[in-house]
Amino acid sequence: MPCHIAILISGRGSNMTALADAVQQGAIPEAIVRVCISDRADATGRARAVERGIETLVIERQRRTRAEHEAEIIRALEERAINLVCLAGFMRLLSPAFVALYRNRILNIHPSLLPAFPGLHAQRQALAYGVRWTGCTVHFVDDTLDGGPVIGQRLVPVLDDDTEETLSARILTEEHRAYADAVVRIVRGDYEIMGRRVINKSSP
Ligand code: GRF
Repeated sequence: MPCHIAILISGRGSNMTALADAVQQGAIPEAIVRVCISDRADATGRARAVERGIETLVIERQRRTRAEHEAEIIRALEERAINLVCLAGFMRLLSPAFVALYRNRILNIHPSLLPAFPGLHAQRQALAYGVRWTGCTVHFVDDTLDGGPVIGQRLVPVLDDDTEETLSARILTEEHRAYADAVVRIVRGDYEIMGRRVINKSSP
């Protein structure tokens, strides 16, 4: 039975696109991107999902309480028998109740090597701190901000002439690879979560 994936976005959706394309090209076997849910009607990523023939829902946060908003998202996930929720630039913190319902079945991608630089503008934070290396992290979502167990990371150098834009672009390329690699592992079920550590089951 294939893994039914929902991708939640708020913006341009390049990670959503990368995941959808990886599934379509067979790089993530046994997976289907069932739905792309946006919490904003003006998320430019929606058009990219539509182009790919992916069902697209707009479930706006505006004029609803968080509980109402999440209830509607959960209804959409349940109706489509979603097994894996991928947050891809989704700019809302999920409530503990939502996280509990999909425990260890929600992933997020963050543009830094967590636990360094959680929260907004991670690339700007990395430049301001002066680190020579940064990267991206795919992690399970728990009740903390960017704090759940790490499933994958990729390393990116910070160059002397980097701006926030050039660094972000270099990290983004690695995000797309890291996210697809992480979803492959999830779909294969080839891992175990032991405390904070995500251990590869097939390692000797
Ligand atoms: C990415 O940098 C991701 O790491 C962060 O938000 C950005 C979303 O970009 N969480 P996109 O919408 O996937 O292009």
